[in-house]
Amino acid sequence: MAKTISLLGLQWGDEGKGKVVDHLAKDLDAAIRYQGGHNAGHTLIVDGKKIVFHLLPSAICHADIHCYIGRGVVVSLDALFEEIEEAEQVIGNIEDRLTVSSACSLIQPYHIKLDQLREGSKKLTKIGTTGRGIGTAYEDRVGRRSIRVTDLYSENKLRDKLEEALDFYNSIFNHSFKSSEIDLNELFDKNLKHGEELKPYVGNVIQEVRDLQNANKKILFEGAQGALLDVSLGTYPYVTSSNSSVGGIASGIGISPTNIDFSLGIAKAYTTRVGEGPFPTELFDSMGTYLAEKGGEVGATTGRPRRCGWLDAFLLSHAVKLNGIDGLCITKIDVLDGLETIKVCTDYSSDISNPELIETLTLEGVEPVYKEFKGWDEPTAGKQAFEELNDKAKEFILNIEDLCEVPVIMISTGPKREDTIIRKHPL
Ligand code: GDP
Ligand code: IMO
Ligand code: MG
Repeated sequence: MAKTISLLGLQWGDEGKGKVVDHLAKDLDAAIRYQGGHNAGHTLIVDGKKIVFHLLPSAICHADIHCYIGRGVVVSLDALFEEIEEAEQVIGNIEDRLTVSSACSLIQPYHIKLDQLREGSKKLTKIGTTGRGIGTAYEDRVGRRSIRVTDLYSENKLRDKLEEALDFYNSIFNHSFKSSEIDLNELFDKNLKHGEELKPYVGNVIQEVRDLQNANKKILFEGAQGALLDVSLGTYPYVTSSNSSVGGIASGIGISPTNIDFSLGIAKAYTTRVGEGPFPTELFDSMGTYLAEKGGEVGATTGRPRRCGWLDAFLLSHAVKLNGIDGLCITKIDVLDGLETIKVCTDYSSDISNPELIETLTLEGVEPVYKEFKGWDEPTAGKQAFEELNDKAKEFILNIEDLCEVPVIMISTGPKREDTIIRKHPL
């Protein structure tokens, strides 16, 4: 029986991770976010009410679970406090069961400002970021000049670091963007105040996770974004700035990579993408609009429309291998209910044997090769057992297993917690 499982998206995010975490959470003791920031938007339907988590692990909805924000997450304290306040209105006080690593890097207002200025510039490549200062905060982390949570409790160090940061950023705002500067004293005071507010949550995630593991507790490593958005392995430069693949877990928490007993990969029965970047199976016709409308494909963080297309099993199979996926969860199969024909990309017609395609994932201009499936009339929506699915839907799922060479152990048939089929429990 698995004790620690990883759960990550295998496409370009928004695969339905939040819903799946919420379904599994009743069997968990702890959940840990290890990368990304409040660029994530994970939707849950709790007692008929929609709740979207950005920084908090989605498992926090279950009252007996302890949640952690690991060192690999870039934290905006404005966003965190706002989210805690909103969540507490629905799920009650969470102070005793949320721990934030003292090693997390903080997103400061200058990160957000620069992200937005760059995205708005006509001279620079537009990535279509969420404008939350994620990439710019990770730049500072890698550049060894981040302000970390622990720095909030050392006034002199904090002031020096902020001064150094503002020297750098204000000169960019001034000279490159002709934009206003950020005031040091105001920012310093705000950070001090935030530090006080954060104190009850700050902790030592490495030690606490070791203790949980020694006590044989069931732990979930909860991924944000998706494998194709990974800064190293994704469709660079149209990616986020963290390691959203399995590789991010060890460094984003402080555990050994051998500490994962089961890797659960989440993929939609079709594909979506928000922001810029290549998307070989994207549909620009009425079918794309149909999937977007039926699937409610609107960004949970920014409200932007999501681009839609057929399932790309070529990329999914690649992501399965990259992440050592032991079992797949296919979500939103109900969105395909009632279609006459469903297509799945199995290959690209452009030189697929070209190893560089996989090495660099430069997908511009590739032509998908499709396998066609007959659709089904009998709905899958709300089904809770594999046997209850119609034969065509079963065939669709079994083909995904063949194409990706991994078992489909879960199927999500609707947005609610209970709209879930479990063929083999990952825990
Ligand atoms: P995440 O970022 O991976 O957690 O996914 P999002 O929450 O951004 O987007 C997934 C959307 O699909 C949300 O609106 C969910 O409520 C919804 N959803 C999740 N699973 C299913 C499903 O199986 N069927 C349908 N129809 N909607 C689903
Ligand atoms: P969840 O966890 C979908 C995308 C942005 C943009 C690119 C870079 O809900 O699946 P960033 O702000 O991270 O620098 O933007 O990454 N992106 C996501 N797309 N789901 C997400 O998270 C995303 N987080 C970032 O749209 O294309
Ligand atoms: Mg999302």
